[in-house]
Amino acid sequence: MRRSDQHAGTAPAPDTVHLRNGGTSLILEARDTGLPGIVYWGAELAAADAAAVALAARPQRVSGGLDRTPQLSLLATDATGWSATPGIAGHRPDGRGFDLLFSTTAMEARGSSVTVNGADTEAGISVTVELEVTDAGLLKQRATLHNTAETPFVLDDLLLAFPVPTDTAEILDTTGHHLRERFPQRRDFTYGTHLRESRRGRPGADSTLLLAAGVRAFGFERGLVHAIHVAWSGNHRVLAERTTTGDSFLAGGELLLPGEGTLAAGGAYTTPWVIGSWGDGLDELSGRFHRELRSRPGHPSRPRPVTLNTWEAVYFDHDLSRLIELAEAGASVGVERYVLDDGWFSGRRGDTAGLGDWFVDTTVWPDGLHPIVDRVHELGMEFGLWVEPEMVNLDSDLAREHPDWLLRGRNDLPVAGRQQYVLDLANPDAYAYIEQRLEALLQEYDIAYLKWDHNRDVTEPGDGPGGRARVHDGVLALYRLLASLKERHPGLEIETCASGGARVDLGILEHTDRIWTSDCLDPLERLTIQKYTGLVVPPELMGAHLTSPVVHSTGRTVSLELSAGVALFGHFGIEWDLTRLDRPALDRIAAWVERYKEVRELIAAGRPLHSDVADPALDVRGVVAPDGARALVTITQVTSSASHPVAPVRIPGLDPERVYAVSVLAPENRQDRPGQSPLPWEHEPLELSGLALATAGLRPPVLFPQGLVLLSLDAVG
Ligand code: DGJ
Repeated sequence: MRRSDQHAGTAPAPDTVHLRNGGTSLILEARDTGLPGIVYWGAELAAADAAAVALAARPQRVSGGLDRTPQLSLLATDATGWSATPGIAGHRPDGRGFDLLFSTTAMEARGSSVTVNGADTEAGISVTVELEVTDAGLLKQRATLHNTAETPFVLDDLLLAFPVPTDTAEILDTTGHHLRERFPQRRDFTYGTHLRESRRGRPGADSTLLLAAGVRAFGFERGLVHAIHVAWSGNHRVLAERTTTGDSFLAGGELLLPGEGTLAAGGAYTTPWVIGSWGDGLDELSGRFHRELRSRPGHPSRPRPVTLNTWEAVYFDHDLSRLIELAEAGASVGVERYVLDDGWFSGRRGDTAGLGDWFVDTTVWPDGLHPIVDRVHELGMEFGLWVEPEMVNLDSDLAREHPDWLLRGRNDLPVAGRQQYVLDLANPDAYAYIEQRLEALLQEYDIAYLKWDHNRDVTEPGDGPGGRARVHDGVLALYRLLASLKERHPGLEIETCASGGARVDLGILEHTDRIWTSDCLDPLERLTIQKYTGLVVPPELMGAHLTSPVVHSTGRTVSLELSAGVALFGHFGIEWDLTRLDRPALDRIAAWVERYKEVRELIAAGRPLHSDVADPALDVRGVVAPDGARALVTITQVTSSASHPVAPVRIPGLDPERVYAVSVLAPENRQDRPGQSPLPWEHEPLELSGLALATAGLRPPVLFPQGLVLLSLDAVG
């Protein structure tokens, strides 16, 4: 029996519900007016604490304030005395009925969930808010709004709020752009609102994957921190707000474009799930997301196959013999999945034409894709295919025959992006065409994997000139399509890609099996991209490929060790023209592929480990087996350090009581810098307790800038 089963719903006072699960407590208190409020969310408390915690949080009336001092509640509105950002805002089309106040009609706990029903009979609106504390200790919230009146209701905004401790002092979120997704930014958590919006019709490379608030200088290792994520692949909004009446909270929801929130009489709207996590440090916080994702019934459970993607090897230059040669070279280094990227379909000789015409281009592939698919299978690999079903080039039969299927809000088309436009997937005819084309490909070829791309922001997303906004409906249509393909093709895996990592969220991950983390394969950039993507996405779902030595997107020259050591903590693959390499070079790659195969189950099950190293030139990261018996760690010398040799680094996250044998797995023949003696511990047995590793640490080998070492820490006895 889960702990929550014993405790949930056994409210110490009739007005309080205390959910406990996965080490997390949620205390919800009924209010005299409006919906209940979350009075506590965080580390698990004793069941008996609930009523007292709620009582202890109640505010006094103060001079200059309202006679009822406001307190954060679910979907707080002005009518509860709340004058900070409201949880819900809307009105009737004539501007009336904006003043909303829900009465709680039911608050029912079951297991580790609670459902709150509320109604505003004056306004003709009712609402259901679902809250759940999951086995991984995440807090999930979503709401469904019903328009119970005879006239339409215009919902402008609906945000689910998560209170955070008042001693949170700093906010962390991420930003970025193509080739540089999810770079962190921090600021003080001051009075007022820090708002992050995504208006690109997809989350966007610059959107924040998480909005976190924590105590001063919280890091990956320690410092109490709470964060939320909106599980939605369209526009969304998250904010962190501190009021002068003592509330601090995070809130998030879908960003509804004008008209998208209009509910007909009797109509309803359901928000995406907004998901909160907390931890003493970001590693604990992200570990909850990883555990949650790994417990999904559809989570990929077989070892993640080493993938070879053709994109950076050949781009649009599709030539059967070259692609077969690439497949053979891939198989010779141990590749298990071969993905034919962009360029295989009608008219697609470059990025100006073809999108929409999902037929194999017979000028390039006179026998269809059969020769390559068959050869890939003969070589013992799975075959994967790139598609971009939501996009259209004007130079395509689809655009010529169905110009009305392209999203636009005015007579003119929106500004093009990569010479392409967006298909109105919510249009049933467009949807049926795309579904039929994908189905035909999946029927004709044995395709184990689709790389599903989406290469532009969605601007002016109308269903025609002067039409309605379609981002919300488009996202739902996409989810429907992905779900129906997976249902008809059990075992089919789908990768979500959007100019790299511009559509990374837990909404799309409900329907897909991996993300393309970034088009940037540069391991130095990837260190940050993967570290912050990993706040939510577990490593086995993060595509990470070996780059060719001169990185295409940055021009930097990098070593195989650096590239492989960084890609190891992901779903490992190769994106490099292997046909140009000699056997010794292929053998070095094969050794890394082999190493990945040895450790991939540990990576797919382990806990994240990041050392908060003070030296900005160093990166220390790894994974720890769930039972603490083993850890894999990389130490990367990103640039040169201020000290020479560098100071010892601490390796946190291991079992403090156990003793670990430390060994250097790679690189095997490290080139030492001139004038340097061997590292004393490297050539003799070194055994350190988890506590000593986390406190005293160990001296890393002296490395050239951009050097990396891979350590194995194995519990002794
Ligand atoms: C963008 C993706 O991120 C790349 O990996 C590649 O698939 C190209 N699109 C193909 O057009």
